This record gives sequence, structure tokens and C-alpha cells, in this order.
Amino acid sequence: MQLYKALRSRATTIEDNTEMSPATIATPIACTDAPLAAVDTDLLMVPWFSGALPAEMAGLDEATGGEIARAAASGELTKGTFDVFLAPVVDRSWKARRVALVGAGKADDFGTGVARKVAIVAGLAARQRHVERLAFVLRSGLADPSGDVDVRGLAQAVAEGLTLAEFSAGVYKTLEDTPSALPLCTIVLPGLADTSPESMGGVEAAVARGRLLGECSNLARELANEPGNTLTPREFAARAQAIARSGGVTVEVLDERQIEALGMGLLLGVARGSSEPPRLMVFRHEPADAPATPVLGLVGKGITFDTGGISIKPADGMERMKDDMAGGAAVACAMRAIGMLGAPIRVIGVVPATENMPGGRAIKPGDILKSAEGKTVEVINTDAEGRLVLGDGLWYARKLGATHLVDVATLTGAVVVALGKITSGILGAPDSWVSHVRRVADRAGDRVWPLPLFDEYRDQLKSEIADMTNTGGRPAGSITAALFLKEFTGGLPWAHIDIAGTAWADEAKPYLPKGPSGVAVRTLAELPFTAESWNKS
Ligand code: BES
Ligand code: MN
Ligand code: ZN
Repeated sequence: MQLYKALRSRATTIEDNTEMSPATIATPIACTDAPLAAVDTDLLMVPWFSGALPAEMAGLDEATGGEIARAAASGELTKGTFDVFLAPVVDRSWKARRVALVGAGKADDFGTGVARKVAIVAGLAARQRHVERLAFVLRSGLADPSGDVDVRGLAQAVAEGLTLAEFSAGVYKTLEDTPSALPLCTIVLPGLADTSPESMGGVEAAVARGRLLGECSNLARELANEPGNTLTPREFAARAQAIARSGGVTVEVLDERQIEALGMGLLLGVARGSSEPPRLMVFRHEPADAPATPVLGLVGKGITFDTGGISIKPADGMERMKDDMAGGAAVACAMRAIGMLGAPIRVIGVVPATENMPGGRAIKPGDILKSAEGKTVEVINTDAEGRLVLGDGLWYARKLGATHLVDVATLTGAVVVALGKITSGILGAPDSWVSHVRRVADRAGDRVWPLPLFDEYRDQLKSEIADMTNTGGRPAGSITAALFLKEFTGGLPWAHIDIAGTAWADEAKPYLPKGPSGVAVRTLAELPFTAESWNKS
């Protein structure tokens, strides 16, 4: 009952947003270029760089009655990156009640990547302390026009970070107090107007963009966090539809009959083992003034629960397989951002959604499936289901007119062995397109690293009876999975991001709590804004 209530209230929250304007969805993050003493806040967060106390810290130190200098002398401040040091403000002429320094590493290494993480740490620390108003100081020294510091990029990253800190995973907890919400946030750029050619208006726009991208990442995390019993393929489609529609994106949800009419034998094959019917979500961002090409096609794996099917997984850790739709969630939530930010090109999103279950009518090892594009597949292992549904999904994105493809999927355990829980694998062709997606991911704060896609590995997918098998054995598991997908890309520029290791954090980091990470949302959302350089790449 409790579960049911929680579900209903959640669903209505999203539904209710359908008609809302972007501004009413979340409280905006404010910006100011006021001097620190004039910032009226409960907690003034300042990134702290290791090494000597910079001159501008002097005022802060005085305001705390020398606490900062004392901590620096005792060694307390030389502790690690992301440590938080708190001191009350004693100077009555200051409006802030407390100051916090957050370890931000070496000043020379400070960029958008560190800024985003430090802002997450700041936001989480403020929530933990039930702070109502938080001000995050983008240090004035960084807004120096003589350097080539990208103030807008930093401000966007900080807004993303503060917003990412809002996410709470314990949605079904009834016995504990709900954790405090994110405080009202202000980003402070002291003296920006005097020291930088950058206008406050430009910074404010960057902050709004960061806020939105953070929110869309959190929506994807909410979806990935949802268990298999609440987020069935139908429920996933309904929520994703509400999320993307409220961002101005056209959404179509195809049911099992329409999927069958399209001939998607791979998606239907995986769905056979479940009593929940599959769904195919199609998202379209089609601005009236967009050119005919390029058209970006985003495809996301939407397995709402992966038992492995007849090739069933071991019980230990199987509960984690509720997030096997994280790639699909990333596509749906990136589409919302793309719509709201008004990307200048056409973008199509495709998310095949189904459970992978071992029901009485489930596909069996050795079964042959026929894909919508015509190729036949011998299913050696029913647990290699992601590539099956993505094969039909990639084909459909092409059929709808995509000229450039990116897919995101929790595809292989092998990528976790190769790159661990920090970095997603990226594979695809041609190299120029893969490198471009890599660069965008880097800037968006999603760590990705390439694995090779040499043709020689294709031998591992040879079948005696069909065009290919769906598994290539243990060696190079992530590569053979990607080579399987390549068969469905029709030679278009295509990049595949394997997020099996990065979609879910098993261990908390200061900047990433346990649970869903929202990986790839910002990368996918930023991509269509880089289209000008695509023919060059
Ligand atoms: N969803 C899994 C991949 C996965 C593993 C995601 C660990 C997150 C954490 C995928 O469907 C799968 O089962 N892949 C198999 C493929 C194998 C049977 C060829 C794998 O990686 O073991
Ligand atoms: Mn599987
Ligand atoms: Zn899977």
C-alpha cells in the first residue's frame, strides 16, 4: 500500500509537470558578483586549493577570526581534495553566517571537471547540515581576463554539480526522515563585472543550462533507481513519455503489435520470456528551422530487469539488474534537455524496452531470431539480450532518418573488467566520430575511453546456421558486443557507449553517492549543439 502510494504520487508529480514552463519546475540557481562580505547566506562555500593561502583568502580569514590561518598552520587544511572545513563567521559586518572551505586540489588543475565535483561535495555537505541557503564562490582569481579561464563553462559545471547533489536514492524509505532538500543556491563570482569581459547575463544563461542538465541527469537517476516491479516496460514508457513531452519533445510509444508489424524479431524474442509486454519509445526533436541533415539518432538499452533469461544469472547481485535500462533513461532524459534547450538540429531517440525473463515461452539457447533489418541471429546466450534489442533499435533510428548514431547501454560485464567503475567504454566507427563524441563526453564530465573495433574480432560471432551468433565468448566481450551492434548501423557514423560499470556506484565517493549516476545524459544532451563540426570530424 505504502509502495503503491509512493508510486502514485511520483507518477502524478511528473504528469503534473506536463504543462509547466521550464522555470516552474525547479528553483533557479541565482548568480551574484557581490563581494564576499555582502553575500547573505547560511553557508559560504569556497573551493580551497592546496599550497599557500592566496591573498584573497585574507578577508575570509579575518572574517572567521583567524580560524582559516590557524587550520592552515596546523595542517588541517592540507588534507585531501573534497574535504570540507567549516568555520563560523565572527565579523558582524559580514552577512554570511558560516564559511566552508572545500578541498579542490591544485589550482593549476582546476577546471570544469573539478568544479563540478567540488560543487557536488558542497551541495551534499549543505544538505547534511540542513542549511537553507548556500552560496558557492567561484573564486575571483579564476575570473581573471588575462588567463583563458572559461567562466561560463565553470559556472555551468558548478550549477550541474549543485543540482546533482539534490538526488536522493531512498525514495521508498518510510522509517527515516526524508533527507533535507537542496538549499537555495547562489553562485558568487566576486567582482566579475570589473575583472572579466564576461557579462553577468552570459553567466546566468550558463547557470540555467547547468541547472537543467543536472535536473535531467537526476530524472534519469530516478528512473534507473526504480525497481523492476514498479518500472515495467509500460511504466517506463509512460514516465519517459511524460518527462520528454514536458520538454517539448514529440513522443510515440509503440506497443507489441506495432513492434511486430515493424518486424523487430530481436526485441520480440527477448520479450517472449516475460508476461509484461515490450514497448518501443520514439522521441523526436524537430525544430522548424533545422536543416534536413544532420539528424542525430540516440538509442538506449531499456531492459527494465535482466534476469539473464534461460541463461539465468546467479542470484548474488542480481538485484542490480533493475538498472539495465539506464541507457534508455539517459536517452529519454537527454531528449528532454535537448527539447528545452532548443538544440539547432533534428534529434531522434529510440528506446526498446522489455524485461529479460525466463518464462515458459522464453527464447532458448540455439534459437534463431530474425531482425527487422533482415539479418538472422543464433542466440547462444539469452543473457546477451541488450545487443539484440539495440540491433532493432539502431535499425529503426536509421529508418527514421538518422545520419549519425550514438547508443548507450549497460551492455557487458567485460567493460567493468576492462575499465572498472570510473570510465565507460566507447567504440564505433569512423574514428573521427568516436573522437568527437569522446571530446563532448569529456567536457560534460562523463569519463569515456576507447576500445578497439578491429574487424578481426568479427570471427568470434560466426554461426554455422545463421548470419551471426549473439555472443563471441569471453575474450574481448565488450568488443564483440559492439561488433554485433555494428551490423545494424548501416555504415553510418556510430559510437557505442558501454556504461555497465558507470551507471551505478557500488561505493560512495565524496562526489557520487551509492546508486544511479545519471551517466551519459549530459553528453547526449550536449552533442546536438556541436553539429557544426561534424563534417570536419
Ligand atoms: N546487463 C548485462 C551487463 C551488465 C553486467 C551490466 C554487469 C551491469 C553490470 C548484460 O545484459 C549481460 O548480461 N551481458 C553478458 C553478456 C555475455 C552473456 C556475453 C555479460 O556481460 O556477462
Ligand atoms: Mn544480460
Ligand atoms: Zn542486460
